[in-house]
Amino acid sequence: MIMTAKHSDKPCDDFLKWALPRMDMRWEGFRKVRGQVCKRLRRRINELGINSFNDYKLYLLEENDEWQVADQMMRITISRFFRDKYSWTVIENQILPEITTRALENKRPVRCWSAGCASGEEPYSLAILWKEKILPAFPGARFEVLATDSDPFMLKRAVQGCYIHGSLKEMLPELKERAFSLEGSFWCLKEEYRRMVSFELQDIRKELPDGPFDIVFCKNLVAMYFSKEMAIRIFREISEVMRTGSYLLLGNHETIAHEEIEEIDIYNRGVNIYVRN
Ligand SMILES: C[S@@+](CC[C@H](N)C(=O)[O-])C[C@H]1O[C@@H](n2cnc3c(N)ncnc32)[C@H](O)[C@@H]1O
Repeated sequence: MIMTAKHSDKPCDDFLKWALPRMDMRWEGFRKVRGQVCKRLRRRINELGINSFNDYKLYLLEENDEWQVADQMMRITISRFFRDKYSWTVIENQILPEITTRALENKRPVRCWSAGCASGEEPYSLAILWKEKILPAFPGARFEVLATDSDPFMLKRAVQGCYIHGSLKEMLPELKERAFSLEGSFWCLKEEYRRMVSFELQDIRKELPDGPFDIVFCKNLVAMYFSKEMAIRIFREISEVMRTGSYLLLGNHETIAHEEIEEIDIYNRGVNIYVRN
């Protein structure tokens, strides 16, 4: 088979295979998104007036600070409201009712953390679900969502809360109509939902928020992009900020070496939800 340039980008692929392990990241996670990453790398190589990926390797070996720039270029920021639709059915029908009952019994709020929240699609999905479906069934229940990301640009967009139509394509039309208003070509989340989520700039490799949490979303980040060793270390740390019986949600296409993280058991394999034992 003849590979077109679109399918094969050997210099960039070779560079990524060399650079990613040095950054504690996995090539497997980047395969699907390499087009986007290669584009950013080429732009940077041009900016530096360098001729090739090989020369960029040499540059990285000489300029230690450049690794931080490379790290930023490796960020994948794709997200959607109610991504992995079926897992949201489990969250709505099983997880949220259960943890809300427990929280009410103990007179405390339900606490959620969305790690690697991109422009807010995930934590805002949770806020919408809470306000529209859970709160009416559990009057008086309290709810807190903390959302963290290491990319300040994404957090700025999250706070603004305006999205293109494609970001909302998995949402039920009636929920979309209630929670958003159309402003020009953007769907903007109403203030009453936006104020339910707090955002913080945090690199999950270096720090975690204070727990304990009842639900942790760690989707399409640690298990997908980081090396196995780093992922195990971070998941162990995450388990320490999770309440006993709380839930950890991963992306549909991620796997976690849960047998190496004793504190975590499988809750629902089909939708990749784990429980803190
Ligand atoms: C692919 S998006 C996933 C968004 C959302 N969790 C989802 O599944 O739809 C990954 C997000 O993780 C963020 N990220 C990457 N490295 C990070 C790190 N070390 N600490 C915190 N966030 C990080 C990126 O900026 C990006 O917004």
